[in-house]
Amino acid sequence: MNHRCCLTALGVYTPEHILSNNDLCALVDTSDEWITSRTGIRFRRKMADTETTSDMAVAAARQALERASLQVSDITHIIVGTCTPEKLCPSVASLTAGKLGAGHCMAFDFNAACSGYLYGLSICRGLLLAEPQARILLICAEAMSRRMNWSDRSTCVLFGDGAAACVLSADANAPLAVLRDVLCAGDGSLGRLITFGGGTEHVRNVGDPIGEDYFLQMQGREVFKHAVRRMADICQEALSRNGLSIDDVDVLVPHQANMRIIEAVGDRLHIAPEKVFTNVADYGNTSAASVPLALDDALGKGAILPGQRVLCTSFGAGLTWSAALMEF
Ligand code: UT7
Repeated sequence: MNHRCCLTALGVYTPEHILSNNDLCALVDTSDEWITSRTGIRFRRKMADTETTSDMAVAAARQALERASLQVSDITHIIVGTCTPEKLCPSVASLTAGKLGAGHCMAFDFNAACSGYLYGLSICRGLLLAEPQARILLICAEAMSRRMNWSDRSTCVLFGDGAAACVLSADANAPLAVLRDVLCAGDGSLGRLITFGGGTEHVRNVGDPIGEDYFLQMQGREVFKHAVRRMADICQEALSRNGLSIDDVDVLVPHQANMRIIEAVGDRLHIAPEKVFTNVADYGNTSAASVPLALDDALGKGAILPGQRVLCTSFGAGLTWSAALMEF
């Protein structure tokens, strides 16, 4: 059996509309100086009112399929990582499959929040072991703007919308990258640190108002500490179980939540800052889409080159965290 998990191509989509820090100053009591110095974020994308999570997923998927020179009929599974689905049912994956004309392929969503991409790689690696013929579209799509409380300055400045997709198979001839290892972890006892509602927790009746808990709520400082510690630790674990040291890593692509978190993770890992790819300034935190959007951006800018070893890491609600080693 072929044990490879190959990334054939990546595709991305970000909405056209750019929200700058100054735009946010019109909504909440904040400043470009505060946001830039505390987070490194300058811009984020905001989807149009008419756009949906699956619209973004479809756009990213189409680009990935085109770059992989595949038809949608070649795809056996569509798996979407999202914490901001447009409906609880049907899944974004099913809606995406329908819009792409994917026929009878298996389609489902999962929610690992900002760790979605690496959790998704772990799911797909397992699937490819069981079904080596599978050709999987793994998509991460997030409509974070729909769950922002636009009067809460401590959260609404942080997040952005976007989607990224990749095609994964066991047998690609000239893959873009090979997944060497992926580790996923979490601590459900800390779930209260990042939440948003809108599920079946409360009994509701037609016409009931939505409460504040529908929107994202986060204990930023606590999350910050966990994010730094967990991402650094799981990166170390991924390296050591593969007999590697940080010097063997050419590029670190961390979750793009906050520049200060990224720098602190880099410091803990003792990796040179020039080896750490960031684009949080342009997109903010796009949750599950963050790591694959950064990978695509890094490839486009020549920051990741063929033959290089890339370490990715992510952290998010749940709490969830993960690390993956890839060879491009
Ligand atoms: O994807 C994983 C999930 N998210 C994260 O990883 C985010 C993790 N947390 C963070 O990135 C940071 O904790 C934040 C950026 C959210 C906040 O930065 P901080 O340095 O931890 O600030 P803080 O929450 O301790 O707040 C400091 C001050 C407070 O004012 P007082 O109480 O000192 O008067 C806040 O009210 O900054 C204030 N503040 C703001 N001021 C201007 C909070 N948000 C803003 C804002 N503009 N947007």
